[in-house]
Amino acid sequence: MSFDRGSWNTRLGFVLAAAGSAVGLGNIWKFPYITGENGGGWFVLIYLSAILLVGVPIMIAEVMIGRSSQKSPVSAFKILAGEDSNWRFVGWMGIAAGFVILSYYSVVAGWSLNYVLLAIMDTTHNQTPEQIGGLFGKLYADGNITLFWHFLFMSMTVGIVLGGVRKGIEKASRVLMPLLFILLLILVVYGFFAPEQGFMRTVRFIFYPDASKLTSRGVLEALGHAFFTLSLGMGAMLTYGSYLDRKEDLVRSSVTISILDTVVALMACFMIFPIVFGYGFEAQAGPGLVFKTMPIIFSQLPGGMILALMFFLLLTFAALTSAISLQEVVTSFFIDETSWSRRKATLLTGTIIFIFGVPSAYSGQGAVFGAWAEIFGMNFFDTMDYLASNWLLPAGGLLIALFAGWRMPAALTRAEFSTGSNLEHWYPIWRFILRWVTPILVAVVLLYKIQVLRLP
Ligand code: TRP
Repeated sequence: MSFDRGSWNTRLGFVLAAAGSAVGLGNIWKFPYITGENGGGWFVLIYLSAILLVGVPIMIAEVMIGRSSQKSPVSAFKILAGEDSNWRFVGWMGIAAGFVILSYYSVVAGWSLNYVLLAIMDTTHNQTPEQIGGLFGKLYADGNITLFWHFLFMSMTVGIVLGGVRKGIEKASRVLMPLLFILLLILVVYGFFAPEQGFMRTVRFIFYPDASKLTSRGVLEALGHAFFTLSLGMGAMLTYGSYLDRKEDLVRSSVTISILDTVVALMACFMIFPIVFGYGFEAQAGPGLVFKTMPIIFSQLPGGMILALMFFLLLTFAALTSAISLQEVVTSFFIDETSWSRRKATLLTGTIIFIFGVPSAYSGQGAVFGAWAEIFGMNFFDTMDYLASNWLLPAGGLLIALFAGWRMPAALTRAEFSTGSNLEHWYPIWRFILRWVTPILVAVVLLYKIQVLRLP
């Protein structure tokens, strides 16, 4: 066994790193546009319920499994359930999900790096909206350039993880997370002063429940996104929890992380939509919202170059602190299960993940890689995202809930729940929700997906 595993310096360091994992492209790139697609209101309400009934209970369970075993997913299940127990495959599934998610996540994060450079060079100055919108199409279709940014972003990720838990991940999170909050706050304040009552229209758009816009697909999407945005279902929080001191309050930490993530997702809407509405654009622009609509708007505003720079730096920081958590799951698996050093584990797996992301980077380039990149009628990129967020994460989350709710002895989970916490009176409620509500909700969603249950 290698002794390269580490531990957090402080509880705040853990909370910032875990919040860094949770706050990512999911909050700033995806949440606003799926909220847009689903008409706001009800979708946001259902998303918040999913965070409360599914997200928080599983977050507590994951951190608990990690903290009590002090191991990464596969080893954790071996310690808690026995060397040969089949539960270890939940860990294996998590490692696989980490590979898959990071490979395409880094491609999107790479686009964000590209826009940081465009902002610095003030490329969009004096360009027409059509030209600026076209920039993204060009980038998406140009596999070579996308590959370059993917490489650069993976190198940054690997570089931080090489530094270890304290000197790499914790240190990076302590710098990047406060910066992220400051940038977000500045841009939200800016949004508050948007013309045409952009801010008030955003309030109405986000919170006004319009039942006619609510579809059953939207409900499923809200639940799936709750997993993704909180980094649940594949052992990322479990791994971060394994570096947490046994004395620390895991309940309060988990709740804080979930609240931070939710607040950032809502703030991202209040950063984006007021200026989208205020300058007469559409909220339902899909994935292009961040990479097309935003640069167009920025190009028309005074000081837009600075705003664009802040926006894409924010997006890059958010993506980076998430990517390191994905890489860390894979790295810590090899540290715990083999005699590899952190250096060897990180460099080797980082390289493989980079290569695995190559087809995603070329997904937009129909002609060359398109032929074999098209699986199930989607390109490689979409297939990976679909596979991970719709299947691997919910299935992993369901199994983790069942493990902590039914397989771990109540005496153990009660003791873990109460250590260092003054929230122990919540234990029976947590356990009840984790045993009954969470698994049933997730199972229903999965059954709908395999069409055992049909959508109305
Ligand atoms: N939560 C991150 C986001 O919202 C993505 C992420 C990081 C993630 N680590 C994860 C998703 C682990 C699932 C599992 O962008």
